Order: sequence, then structure tokens, then C-alpha cells
Amino acid sequence: MVVILLGPPGVGKGTQAAVLAQRPGWTHLSTGDLLREARRNGTELGTQAQAYMDAGQLVPDALILDLVQEKLGELPEGQHVLFDGFPRTLPQAEALGPVLGRLSRQVDRVLVLEAPAEVLVKRLSGRRTCGGCGRIYNIHFDPPAKEGVCDRCGASLTHRKDDREDTVAQRLEVYSRQTEPLIRYYEGSPAMLVRIQGDQPMEQVQADVKRGVEEAAA
Ligand code: AP5
Repeated sequence: MVVILLGPPGVGKGTQAAVLAQRPGWTHLSTGDLLREARRNGTELGTQAQAYMDAGQLVPDALILDLVQEKLGELPEGQHVLFDGFPRTLPQAEALGPVLGRLSRQVDRVLVLEAPAEVLVKRLSGRRTCGGCGRIYNIHFDPPAKEGVCDRCGASLTHRKDDREDTVAQRLEVYSRQTEPLIRYYEGSPAMLVRIQGDQPMEQVQADVKRGVEEAAA
């Protein structure tokens, strides 16, 4: 199966994808995480992406599509894929179909997580990410037992640079202008698209996401 998690910054795509991808046979493919890894490793892609990410702008489609094709090519056959943060523009969505087609695959479900802007802003201001294992926390809603330290691996927690207030506003604007149109694009095949209320407790969102995936598999 190929499932896309679509939604604005801070709606909970990464949080939900991390839980879902604990199931055997699933791979969580987050273009944001891959770009941040490329930056940490100082690769050419990371250097090229840096200025766009820090400004809250999208990285050029060509770079993203090369990255996604490379990662899909590395997956074992039959692996289920959960896209988080991809596709994000119409050209990316239009390119994904043929890329999957060459692997005899298709998009099976698009889960759209939705929440009001004020919820997103509060979540992003409180988000902390573990520099070791990548676990996501929130100082308002899901704090670690010890401030600044990951419960799971003991590494330090960081606040993403693009979660600063001015950059968040820019990211939300970019989402509504460049990514939201994808909802209409995928609504063209209604069986594929499911809307999920993202401003519910995490467990409820998780149950809705799970149902959305299981219905597509049935
Ligand atoms: P990316 O990393 O993809 O960021 P994003 O889409 O802006 O999404 P976020 O990671 O901010 O939010 P999320 O929905 O995953 O929320 P989370 O689960 O963490 O992209 C970053 C940048 O990379 C882009 O700006 C762009 O430059 C570039 N990029 C990436 N992909 C690209 C592409 N395809 N094309 C071009 N450029 C690309 O949750 C947020 C917080 O809320 C957490 O603290 C969490 O604990 C909390 N939370 C989650 N759910 C709940 C809940 N139900 N209740 C209470 N709190 C909750």
C-alpha cells in the first residue's frame, strides 16, 4: 500500500506516521526528515535545501523528486509506504503517479489531517524533537519526564529552527497556496481521500488514521 499523510505544518503528520510505521512492513518516508538528515550530514542536497527550509519555503520540486525516487528504489519489494510531507505541490503529485507506476504501484489512500491555525501555531511553538532517536514531544501537550531530555534515549531535545513564529506564519501561507490545492487534486478520486480532524487527542487521531488505512486495505 501507498498512503499519503497530507496536512499543514504542526497538524500531527510526523507524530501519527511514527506510530503507524511501527507496524511490520511499513516505511515512514518523511521528506522533511530526509532533508534535515542531509543537512546534518553536510551533503550537497542538504546545502541546497538549507536556505529554503530556514525561510519556510519549499525546496525545488526537482530535488525532492530525485530524493523520493532514490528512497523508493531502496525499499524491499512489497513494503508499505507512508508519505509524510510529500507530495506538496501539484508537480510533485503529478510526477508521483508515473514514478509509482514504474514500480507497479499506486497511491491507495490520502489522509488529510486538518486543524485550526491557532492550534498549529501553539503546537509548533511547543514542539521539541530528540536529536538522538527523533521522537517528537510537546512542552504543552506531551512533555518529556525530564525537561530537555528524551525519555526514550536520553539525548537532548531541540526546537526546530523553522518553528520560530515568523517562519511558522510563512510555512502556513505556503501550505495554503501550494499544498492545499492537492486536496482538490486527490478529491478527483473520492474513494482515495479521507479527512481527519487533527485537533483531537492524539489517541483519537491515531484511531481515525488506523481506520483510514485499514479501510483502504480491505
Ligand atoms: P516538514 O518537516 O515536512 O514539516 P511540515 O510539513 O511543515 O510539518 P511539521 O513536521 O512541522 O508538522 P507535523 O504535521 O509533522 O506535526 P508533528 O507530528 O511534528 O518540512 C520542513 C521543510 O522541509 C519545509 O518547510 C520545506 O522547506 C522542506 N520540505 C519538506 N518536504 C518537502 C517537499 N515535499 N517539497 C518541498 N519542500 C519540502 O506535531 C507537531 C507538534 O504537535 C508536536 O510537538 C506534537 O507532539 C504535537 N501534536 C501532534 N498531534 C497532537 C495532538 N493530537 N494533540 C496535541 N499535540 C499534538
